[in-house]
Amino acid sequence: MPTIHFLREQLDVDCPTGAILRDVALDAGVELYGLKGKLGNCGGCGQCSTCFVAVAGRDEDACLTPRTAPEQRFLKRRPVNWRLACQAVIRDSLVVVTRPQAGWPGGDQALAAAVNAMTVNAAASPQASPCQDSGSDSDDGDGGETGDGSGEA
Ligand code: FES
Repeated sequence: MPTIHFLREQLDVDCPTGAILRDVALDAGVELYGLKGKLGNCGGCGQCSTCFVAVAGRDEDACLTPRTAPEQRFLKRRPVNWRLACQAVIRDSLVVVTRPQAGWPGGDQALAAAVNAMTVNAAASPQASPCQDSGSDSDDGDGGETGDGSGEA
């Protein structure tokens, strides 16, 4: 069973394979949206881009399904590890930063440390199977809504 580690919230949530990341976050009480998303989001239809997150894992390609067409459109100028939570189907354990922002000082290191911790925990537990690390070039953030102040992902 995959475990999602929400880095900002310091919360681990187990979920079934095939779950949608947005649903897992909201069911766990994780605040996924910035102000714009709170005021109005599309409800998970891939139309508003307010549910973006940064992800890291041993291998992001193995942890989540590939970017969908809405993600390709909305996130084309964003780091490759940013995803729309409503479009991302979980395949394996990963680390998630909600409301990422470009230029978060120490963000890459924090993500890498969280992935390493996840790997260590998985090694101690024969039932867990974390993804493989691909490193992180994320520009996740400090709680800002969009990473550049534009109001959109
Ligand atoms: S909730 Fe609107 S794009 Fe994800």
